[in-house]
Amino acid sequence: MAEHGRADRREFEAYQAFLADAKAIWATELFGDLKRTAEERQAIGPGASAASVADAVADHPAARTFAFLERRLQALKYTGRLGIVPFLQRHRADHAEEIAPDLPDGLLGLDPELKLPAYYCDVDVHQQPGGVWREDIGGLSYAYGARGTTGRQVTGADGRGRAQTLHTRFADLLGEAAPDPGRIADLGCGYGKSTLPIAEAFPDATIDAVDLSAPCLRLAARTAFAGGIDDVRFHQADAAATGLAASAYGLVTSTMLLHEMPPSHVRAVFAEARRLLAPGAAFMNLDFLPPDDPFLAFIHAGHGERNNEPWMATLARMDLPTELAAAGFRDVTIAPFEEFDGALATAGRRWRLPFTVIAARAA
Ligand SMILES: C[S@@+](CC[C@H](N)C(=O)[O-])C[C@H]1O[C@@H](n2cnc3c(N)ncnc32)[C@H](O)[C@@H]1O
Repeated sequence: MAEHGRADRREFEAYQAFLADAKAIWATELFGDLKRTAEERQAIGPGASAASVADAVADHPAARTFAFLERRLQALKYTGRLGIVPFLQRHRADHAEEIAPDLPDGLLGLDPELKLPAYYCDVDVHQQPGGVWREDIGGLSYAYGARGTTGRQVTGADGRGRAQTLHTRFADLLGEAAPDPGRIADLGCGYGKSTLPIAEAFPDATIDAVDLSAPCLRLAARTAFAGGIDDVRFHQADAAATGLAASAYGLVTSTMLLHEMPPSHVRAVFAEARRLLAPGAAFMNLDFLPPDDPFLAFIHAGHGERNNEPWMATLARMDLPTELAAAGFRDVTIAPFEEFDGALATAGRRWRLPFTVIAARAA
């Protein structure tokens, strides 16, 4: 890389670190200011809801500043000269391996004829220009953007000495739900951040990972190949119509997929997961649902609106136990998920995504 390229990267990383620091202040101090405002206005008492908290604080500078910075800091991360998308557009050549990898046959199945659903194309999810799919750098841009989004990335070491992240913690939970699944489907695998920890946690399983985004799948397959993981196949398909074999899977899972689709599509994914699963097998989803606490529910609703994730609100309103039962599942449980030890205890003190496990078994 020429000197000016290295200088550009240093400037980019410094700017992105500045934004991450600003976000940390937003997540702690501005979050605290907003919470104090809600308390002072007695907006968090019995009978309060996300909507009533929003009404009570809407005109206060603490609420306006919090909302403005939530949207703008995310937009700045991706756009402008030192935003991720323009930066990667300038540095495509340095990332050719991740954008257009040379892969062995059979690892990655792309479908150039696949018609992407309208809900997917109409919104630039997470405010990423072009979404995760429109440009060849879509997967890599998403990977850069996710570096600080889901909170603490490495949260210690697990029992096997691996770096522990929310994805490895969820993979461990999958191991408890399905100790010997044989075949696993990871729906909405993105650039492989959910799939690869699953592959490590289940060395004897065969995994089919499915996503709509070709750029994400290329990056996922490249990362798997580079890591010597050979029991995963990546498929470009809709999670609602995967084309995978019926009744063949001991575990179907998704991570942060369901809140990115409208209710009709969530229902179709439930039906597809049931089709894939053998009777009694586990369906495990890690996603976001509003906490019981009305202030935190207000924060969650605002995040969906401001981060271009409109289906967070509709997922929150779905009666998931009834929907899952109608799709042919039993033993539904919905429980908060701690992405690191003590995460739930921090929820009222700093901003956090309300991770939730939605689990069921094929009837
Ligand atoms: C928030 S990302 C999560 C990715 C990954 N599971 C992870 O944990 O990092 C959601 C992913 O779902 C994919 N997606 C959205 N709708 C989909 C659908 N109908 N079928 C398959 N994938 C879908 C998006 O392309 C995106 O990669």
